[in-house]
Amino acid sequence: MSSNASMHGLWQSRWLFILAATGSAVGLGNIWKFPYITGENGGGAFVLVYLLCISIIGIPVMIAEVSLGRMGRQSPINTMKALAQKAGASPLWSSIGWMGAIAGFLILSFYSVIAGWALSYTLDMASGNFVNISAENSGKIFGDLLANPTQLTIWHTAFMILTLGVVARGVNAGLEKAIKVLMPVLFILLFILFGYALSSSGFGQGFSFMFDFDFSKLTTESIMVALGHAFFTLSLGLGAIMAYGAYMPADTSIAKTIIIVAFLDTAVAIMAGLAIFPIVFANGLEPSAGPGLLFQTLPIAFGQMSGGVIFGTMFFVLVSFAAWSSAISLAEPIVAWFVEKFKMSRTLAAVIIGFSAWLLGLATVFSFNIWSDVKMFDKTVFDLLDFLTTNIMLPLGGLLIAIFVGWKMSETKMMNEVGIDYPILFKLWRFTLRFLAPIAIIAVLVNGLI
Ligand code: PHE
Repeated sequence: MSSNASMHGLWQSRWLFILAATGSAVGLGNIWKFPYITGENGGGAFVLVYLLCISIIGIPVMIAEVSLGRMGRQSPINTMKALAQKAGASPLWSSIGWMGAIAGFLILSFYSVIAGWALSYTLDMASGNFVNISAENSGKIFGDLLANPTQLTIWHTAFMILTLGVVARGVNAGLEKAIKVLMPVLFILLFILFGYALSSSGFGQGFSFMFDFDFSKLTTESIMVALGHAFFTLSLGLGAIMAYGAYMPADTSIAKTIIIVAFLDTAVAIMAGLAIFPIVFANGLEPSAGPGLLFQTLPIAFGQMSGGVIFGTMFFVLVSFAAWSSAISLAEPIVAWFVEKFKMSRTLAAVIIGFSAWLLGLATVFSFNIWSDVKMFDKTVFDLLDFLTTNIMLPLGGLLIAIFVGWKMSETKMMNEVGIDYPILFKLWRFTLRFLAPIAIIAVLVNGLI
């Protein structure tokens, strides 16, 4: 079993690791992205493939990634370097850490822009702009926000400062305390919204949209999107969860803990979908509206319910918080590496990374307005960054992690590390990493790219 020390600190308990990992996993991916890609990819069949990807590939790879982190106890780049050396494997395996740190940086750049939308909506909600709003006007408010680069940049800047502010201080102090309260409240609010959706005339239609499988709607690209999203939503394949694993106490069972985190993450996504689609159908909106789906639909619901101004404001505060706790984990691997490599302070590392990601984020800001016509492979800069990171880099990272743990790490070592009590389950897990996950990921990537 691994040692009990890391230069960056340790989570105080297993419970705090669960909170931190759930904080990382639950974010815009669940509340904003999952509903809109489900809408774009035709609903039920996509949801089914996504759930399969989570359970068959996501959870086993997540257990592997966290174990690597805890065995290495450093930034993912140095962890992979050290573990490869110990296992007598090629130093090239540290590319898992490298590619991950770059992917995390790229995702952070656009994640911050979208999280900025949530900040902006918090203010809009609080000022009562959505009371009794029509679907048309709700769409217009969203359109106006996207058309305004200055506005977007201000919110993007605010979010980036919030994020790197926490990273600079280390994660123990502020964040742990905040998410302990906020995550449960997020669940409660999602239940309230779900209750509202349940009573709306669109519920039946929304429900069937999410759970009736129509496989004719499934394309190879949707399968690729489902796999990529399984990685994205679990914060997998780029070292974020590896970095968090590095701060995990030595005596907790990784496997059991990760199953809880994956369950919570999936529950939030499904609830967000069940809250949104009924409103879409009840108001004659399009499920395939794209990235604006969350922002155009939920304000309509809040606008109609009593106490909607308060609930709506709280909701967007919580979305912002969920995004915040995820963004922190996107920055952590690369910031931790800067601290180790250049012996600089966390603050300086956070400023350098934060500023560079902010700068790159401007490309995403512009892709919604002045650069909306600039396209490569029929994708805007934002779409391209999203596709490259989520659908290619994360699965590739996951593939390498599976192969490394399955083939390069000794079986006994892993058995001691992961805390899977039943030998047969352990064998199944290892088989998945050695064969099932790599074959599935390669098949999806190859099919999707051709
Ligand atoms: N899991 C986060 C979400 O669903 C995003 C994320 C991806 C965070 C990768 C860290 C690493 O919003």
